[in-house]
Amino acid sequence: MFTRPPLLLIHGFPLDATLWEPQVRALSPLVEVIAPDLRGFGNDRRELPAIMPMRSHAADLKEMLDERGIEKVILCGLSMGGYIAMAFAERWPERLAGLILCNTRSNADDEDGVAARHTTAQNAREKGMDVIARGMLPGLLTERTRQERPELAQRVLDMIARQSPDTVAATSLGMAQRPDRLHVLQKMKVPALVITGDSDSLMPMPTSQVMADALPNGRLVVLPGAAHLTNMEVPELFNRTIQIYLEEHHHA
Ligand code: MLT
Repeated sequence: MFTRPPLLLIHGFPLDATLWEPQVRALSPLVEVIAPDLRGFGNDRRELPAIMPMRSHAADLKEMLDERGIEKVILCGLSMGGYIAMAFAERWPERLAGLILCNTRSNADDEDGVAARHTTAQNAREKGMDVIARGMLPGLLTERTRQERPELAQRVLDMIARQSPDTVAATSLGMAQRPDRLHVLQKMKVPALVITGDSDSLMPMPTSQVMADALPNGRLVVLPGAAHLTNMEVPELFNRTIQIYLEEHHHA
C-alpha cells in the first residue's frame, strides 16, 4: 500500500484512458495510478446529455472517488483533462492533495473558439472520427515525431478514430461552455505543477505561464521536443517530472 494519495489521470479530447499507458506502466511502482475513461470515451458506455459540460465530467470523477472510498487525490489532467481538473478543483477543493496541469489553459474559449467547437461537433457526426483524427494529428505530435515514430502517430490516430461521434460532439459543445477558471488556481493551496511542451501550438506558452504564475504553490516545467501530447511524445521526461514532484511534495 502507498502512503501518498492516489494519482488520478484525466485524459484529453477526443482520447481515452490509453493515453496514459506510459504513465500507468512507469508510475505504478511509486503511486496508486487511476486512469479512467471519461463518460462515453474508450470502453465507457454511460449515456451523455446533448451537451456535456466540464463540471459534469468532474462530477463523474467525484462519484467514482466516493464509490472507491478515496478521500484525497493528486489530480493530473492533460488539455481537456486539465479543464476538468480545474472544474473539479473549483467545486471540491478539499478533495485535492495536489494538482498537475498538462498542456492546458485556464481561460474560456473566445468567439472563434466556440464556433470551432460547433464545427467539430458537426464534423464528428457528419464526416466521422477518421477525418477528425487526421485533422488533429499535426497539432498533437511534432513533425519530427510523426516522421520518425509512425507507430506512435498511428496509435494516436487509432485512439481518436475509435471514439463515439455522439460523445465527441457532446463534449466539444461542453468545452465551449466552460468559464475562465484562473480564480480557481489563485486559491489553490496544494502543491501544483504546470507541464507543457516547447512545441505545443494548441496551447501557446503564455497560457501555461499564466497558470503557473497564478498558482501560489506552483511551477512550470517545459519539456523539449514535445507538442501537445507531452506524456506520449517524451514519456521519460514526463514521468521523471512527475516522479520529482511526488518525491518533493508527497512523501511515500
Ligand atoms: C485536448 O487535447 O483535450 C483538446 O485539444 C482540448 C481543446 O480542444 O481545447
